[in-house]
This record gives sequence, structure tokens and C-alpha cells, in this order.
Amino acid sequence: MSALARQMSFDLAGEGTHVGGYAPLRQALAAHLRTARGVVCEPRQILVVSSTRAALSSLCRLLTSPGDRGLVEDPGYFIVGRALADFGLEPVSVAVDEEGMVVTPSLPAARLAYVTPTHQMPLGVRLSDRRSAELLEWARRGDGWIIEDDYDSEFRYVGQPVAALQGSDTSGRVLYVRTFAKLLFPSLRLAFMVVPKTMAKALERAVFLNGHEPPLHVQAALADFIAEGGYAAHIRRVRRIYRRRQELLVDELNRQLHDIVDLHPPSGGMNIVVPLPAHIAAETVQAEAARQALHVRPLSYYAQRLAAPNALHLGFAALPERLIEPSVRRLAAIVRGLDLDR
Ligand SMILES: Cc1ncc(COP(=O)(O)O)c(C=O)c1O
Repeated sequence: MSALARQMSFDLAGEGTHVGGYAPLRQALAAHLRTARGVVCEPRQILVVSSTRAALSSLCRLLTSPGDRGLVEDPGYFIVGRALADFGLEPVSVAVDEEGMVVTPSLPAARLAYVTPTHQMPLGVRLSDRRSAELLEWARRGDGWIIEDDYDSEFRYVGQPVAALQGSDTSGRVLYVRTFAKLLFPSLRLAFMVVPKTMAKALERAVFLNGHEPPLHVQAALADFIAEGGYAAHIRRVRRIYRRRQELLVDELNRQLHDIVDLHPPSGGMNIVVPLPAHIAAETVQAEAARQALHVRPLSYYAQRLAAPNALHLGFAALPERLIEPSVRRLAAIVRGLDLDR
């Protein structure tokens, strides 16, 4: 990035030269997505924006009218419900179970559904094949849109990669969204969408009107990084590091709290869910932990209208290996203290 910023060619310094995204980045992403995620698209179907929120705002601008309904996972990425409400939409909560969003034939009609099918945020479950098919059918039948947020799918540690829903959509109802906030780093401010060919031009205009394009030299740096193999190497390396951190965290929790918590480690991602017995409220653990400068979140943090299970949502991606055992020791002491208070 600094090399490109120093050179700052005319092409990268101007405006209006790469509407929709830096052309070589769109090409690099299209090639990468096909092999890594089974996403089928041409470069012109990819629109580069600064964040998932920016993508959502352009999609709402183009596709929705005030009063429309938008289905959201509950618990889920809570920003989505807020953003939809901000656009005058009515967010409708849909529960999530071990097969992902509870998609049944009686799913309410809505303009759109926002889902994290590969790895649900925050529960970490995968949308089952049955539910995926049902959701695609829901969209086809009711002219609804599915916004597929594929935020952390490349961090998968066990089993075969799960292909994106977009690849099995034959009706052009899936709008694929992905941020680099997790795969690279949040302040990069880079994300993109993949949309049907028929929508690409109109969405380019919506992105332009919103002014949501990331700087071109940043896009160019990512294009080079992907094309030169740096991105794939980065993902392999980080995957190894995160897998190890997840293993250590799960081992420590099992060792220190085996009589209290029953863990089902997820197949990937950057967080794990730690279910707690009813008499140890996750919110109380959070408050007690905060007093000791230990940052943990209850699942209820992600709840919207439905009650979330009593559990903690622990992030391990930023936790160096040497801190895992002492952190779990402190957390275990808090949980045991609350267990005794009963
Ligand atoms: C499911 C999910 N998608 C996307 C994001 C972030 O997206 P962005 O910062 O690109 O808007 C988050 C951040 O926490 C998230 O949890």
C-alpha cells in the first residue's frame, strides 16, 4: 500500500476511472471466489465498497422501499437490523438453531433476508442443505432477495470447505457480500458484493451516489496481493494460527471447567460459544470479568427480539497462545465463584 501510495499514478489518483471497483481487483476476486468459495461470477458483477454496511446501504437504496420487511437472524449481526430500520424497513427476527436460520415453508414474506449461511454469526452453525434449498425457494417464490454475508468462511479448520449459497442459486436471488475486515484487518475498509448481471450497472450507480468506494491505491494493493499469491499464503498462515488458538482455548476450557460447560467447538471462525448452566448468567460473568479487565461477551449481546441462549461468545483470534491458559484460569475462577453463590 505504501509503495502504491508513493507512486500514485494518474490512474489511481483520479475519479471515475474505475467505477464499481478497480478493474484488476474485480478480476482477481472473481478468479479467487470461483476456486475458494464456489461463487460463480464475472468481474463486472463485483462491486467494491468500503464495508459490509456500505454494501447493505447501497442494496437497500436500490432494492427496498420504506415499510418493506427484512428477515434477520436472531441472534445475529445486530448492525443489520439497525441499518434496515434506518432505511425504514421493518426487521423481522427469525430464530436460529443447529441447522442455522429456521427457514420453514411458513417463513414470512419479505423483501429480503440477511443470512450468514456458511458460519452463522454468532452461533457458528452452518445453514443445512435442506434449509438452504428452502431459503432459495422462498426467495424465488416471493421475489425476495437473499443477502449472503460470507464474512469469515475462509477460516475453516476441519472438514471440507462449505461452498457459498450463491453458487447454487439458479434464480439470481442471492446477493453475496464479503468484508476484508476479518480476513485482513478492520481499518482497511474494504468489502465487496457479487450481484446478478442485470443489477450490476444500477448498483454501480447506487454505490457511486452513496460515495462508498474505497481508495484506489488500497484496492490496487489488494489486487496485487491476491494476484501474486500473498493473500492465499496469508489465509493459510492465519488459518494455522487461529486453529491452534481455538484448539488451545477449547482444551483449556474443557480442562478447567469440564464439570460446568459442555462445548461443541465450531469448525472454523474466530469465536466459540460457551453455554452456561441457567444459574450462572452470562451477563453476570461479563460484568465480573470486565471488573478484572477480561473482555467476554454474552450471546445476548447479539439478540434482537428473541431471547438468546445463556452462553458466552469468546473471541480467540486476537489472543496470543501464551495468554490463553491464564485468561481461562481467570474466567474459570469467576464462573466457579458464581457457581458457589447459588
Ligand atoms: C457477520 C458480520 N459481517 C460483517 C461484519 C463487519 O463488516 P464491515 O466492518 O465491513 O461493515 C461483522 C463485524 O463484526 C460481522 O460480524
